[in-house]
Parts: sequence; structure tokens; C-alpha cells
Amino acid sequence: MADCPYQKLFIYEIQGEFTLPATEAAGDFLGCWREGDCSYLFFTQKKEDHVKKILGERQAQRYLSETVINYEDWEAGHPLVPMRIADFYLCPLWEQPQPGPGEHLIRLDPGVAFGSGFHPTTKLCLQLIHDLYDQADFPQVLDLGTGTGILSLACLARGAHQVLAVDHNNLAVTTAAANARHNGLAHCISLVCGDVLDYLATPADLALANMYYAILREVMEQERFFNKAWYILSGLVGTEIDKMLTQMRQTPLEVVQVVDENLWFAILARNRALT
Ligand SMILES: C[S@@+](CC[C@H](N)C(=O)[O-])C[C@H]1O[C@@H](n2cnc3c(N)ncnc32)[C@H](O)[C@@H]1O
Repeated sequence: MADCPYQKLFIYEIQGEFTLPATEAAGDFLGCWREGDCSYLFFTQKKEDHVKKILGERQAQRYLSETVINYEDWEAGHPLVPMRIADFYLCPLWEQPQPGPGEHLIRLDPGVAFGSGFHPTTKLCLQLIHDLYDQADFPQVLDLGTGTGILSLACLARGAHQVLAVDHNNLAVTTAAANARHNGLAHCISLVCGDVLDYLATPADLALANMYYAILREVMEQERFFNKAWYILSGLVGTEIDKMLTQMRQTPLEVVQVVDENLWFAILARNRALT
């Protein structure tokens, strides 16, 4: 077993839109995350002087801060180790995989994108994907808010042919692209960096959306989203599930199952008009 390459994360906050020049992006650079008016550069080594030096030559951006955290804290206290969820065997890239009989191996390097498999919302989706694909085929999938690409890879492992995976975070898209390559599935996943609202009408047999409530609520208001046969919706916490179930009564979707873990909920629904 090799060591996890991420021990500490060094995060540099920069005012303004900043892209690290390709010539400066060595192996210890994980990616850049944009949030509002700021850019956050993630490294596995201390790079304060380096980042300040690059910024020194620019007018439009300003160095704000350095934050250093343990990678395990980024992952909510979990070390990245192999994990079994339903019939999926999730194995970090640097570990020797030992899938059991009938298990579907998914190689993952989550970096700092969401979707290592530890979060209950991801686990619930994986469980529902497992249950669904046990019953039928769902060749075309739309994965809204793909993060590391984990749910797309799970559907492909279970027999999906093609996935359109969307995320507005460029760091997530590059992470998902790398994970698709690690699993030899790059040709089956079309990855786009964009807002999910622009891709709701994409035809698919199954739509996945593990996102937070405010965006799910907006998604469910869009008529064009209801051209899929099956839906897995996750990312709902506490009383948000009741609000979502109430809103869904105004849609063509019928709730088939609600699953939960530690106050997080996920919904399996089918389209009455198409199933
Ligand atoms: C909770 S994570 C889910 C990641 C992965 N699908 C999983 O199940 O573990 C939600 C993802 O949605 C993305 N996201 C949030 N709002 C979005 C939007 N409006 N358009 C596109 N992506 C969005 C985030 O960047 C994040 O990667």
C-alpha cells in the first residue's frame, strides 16, 4: 500500500480571477477553485512565496491569505482508504485494489473535489444506483453536479453506455476527467464545465443530482427537466426533504423510495409519463 499523496493542503486565497500559468503548475498543484470574487489555489506543499511572486507582476489580483489544513479534515476527518458501498469497491489510486467477487472496482483520486464516497449523500446515491441497475438497464445518464465523477463511474460500472456530467467548478471537471481516465472510461463520459440549469433538457434514461436544496428546488421548477424516465435526487438535509417531497407533487415525478443516513436524504423517483 502506498501513502496517500495528500497530507496537508495549502490553500491560497486571492482576490480576483486567477489562473496559475501552466508552466507553474507542477505536481504539487491540485487546482483552482473560484468562489464569488475570489480564487483559491490548492497545493500539497507550502507555496506562499511562489504564489506571491507570480502575483507580484499582476495588477488585477491581490494575495489575501494562506490556510493550511490536514487533508483528513478536508475529508471531514476520514482518511482516504478503500471502501465498499453496495456492490461498489472504491479504491484510491495509490492503494492496491482487492475487489471481492462480483464487486465493481472504481479507482478514485478525489483531490479536493466533492465525491470521495464518504459523504452520506454520495453513499445514498450509490446504493440507489445499485438497486436500480439490478432491475433494468439505464444506458444514457445525466449527472448534474458530478464532483469527482463518482456517480457517473458507478453507472458506467453497472452497464451505462454514456454519461453527460456537468459541474460549474473547473477543479471538479478536471478531477472527474482524470478519474474517468484512471478507470479507462474517458470515452464514455462527456464532461462539461457549466451551470446545471443549462443542461436540464439533455435526454437520458436516468438523471442524477446530488446537490444542495436551493439548486434542486430551482431544477425541479423547470419543465424541460422532466424528459427522463428515472431520477435520483440527493443532498437534502433535515426538513428540506419534506419541502422537496411537497414540491415534487406538482411535477410528473412519482417518489418510489426515500433513503436516509445521518439526517441526509436521497430520493428515487420515476416519471409517470415515461415509465
Ligand atoms: C454535493 S457535490 C456532489 C458530487 C458527486 N456527484 C457526489 O455525489 O459525491 C455537488 C457538486 O455540484 C456542483 N454544483 C453546485 N451547484 C452547481 C451548479 N449550479 N451548476 C453546476 N454544478 C454545480 C458542485 O461544484 C459540486 O461538485
